Amino acid sequence: MTDNQTNETINTLLNRRSIRKFKTDPIDPHIRETLEKVAQRAASSNYMNDWSAIRITDRDLQGDIARIGRQPYIAQAPLLYVFIADEHRNARIAERKGIDVHGDDFAFNSSYRLIQASNDAVLALHAMETAANSLGLGCVILGSVLNDINRLIDVLHLPEYTYPVLGLAIGKPDQAPALKPRLDRSDQFFVNEYPADPDAVITGLDRFDADVHRYYDLRQADRPVDAFSDQIAQGAVKPASEKRRFTPTAERQGFRFDR
Ligand SMILES: Cc1cc2nc3c(=O)[nH]c(=O)nc-3n(C[C@H](O)[C@H](O)[C@H](O)COP(=O)(O)O)c2cc1C
Repeated sequence: MTDNQTNETINTLLNRRSIRKFKTDPIDPHIRETLEKVAQRAASSNYMNDWSAIRITDRDLQGDIARIGRQPYIAQAPLLYVFIADEHRNARIAERKGIDVHGDDFAFNSSYRLIQASNDAVLALHAMETAANSLGLGCVILGSVLNDINRLIDVLHLPEYTYPVLGLAIGKPDQAPALKPRLDRSDQFFVNEYPADPDAVITGLDRFDADVHRYYDLRQADRPVDAFSDQIAQGAVKPASEKRRFTPTAERQGFRFDR
């Protein structure tokens, strides 16, 4: 890359990686404020501002969430957030203006809004991750907090018209993992249309499989990482214990998929 193609922001993004071991140092409250402001600056679909984030400061609760995620580093993160798709606040605002937020015409509990609110939450989380990285902090995004989504909703007391999206653990890195390989760009970026030839999206797969197999994963330091193709094949069959079913939980939270 030449000098005019790069800068600190791009370097931060090109060096991002997940950090799963943190120093115990707390995060300076001013830095936390900055990270929260950055997250709020992210774009928001229809300017609905329909996400929230819950910062976990109670150690017992953090332990509960780590048990849900079955990942001990969740319990050790100096800063932990759960990002929420949140139409509850907007429902309360509408209700104060006389709108019936339980009627058939209510729009904010639609599947479309839930998807857009989730997008907003992800954009905010990603802005926070990038800002944290740019300050030398490490992060890991946590889908595992959804392992038992109903329990997560219960422990966070999530009300009607909210849905948990992802966790974000932040702290000073206490490990230096290698950058994890990525697909060939031509297998992920297309021009004008999705390629008709199914093999056109895996032209670099052999190279990628070999790179992933060579990648040294600090989480399983005793054995090589499976090739990407093997990881995908293993993940393609749902385990019997799966408790992440989306629709029943979203309906429990008041979202409607019939319109
Ligand atoms: C939506 C999402 C959920 C994730 N959930 C977890 C998680 O629960 N636990 C974890 O250790 N890493 C989690 N990750 C991190 C991925 O494992 C990681 O981004 C991926 O392996 C690539 O590695 P890298 O981030 O170091 O490049 C998640 C990432 C994303 C985008």
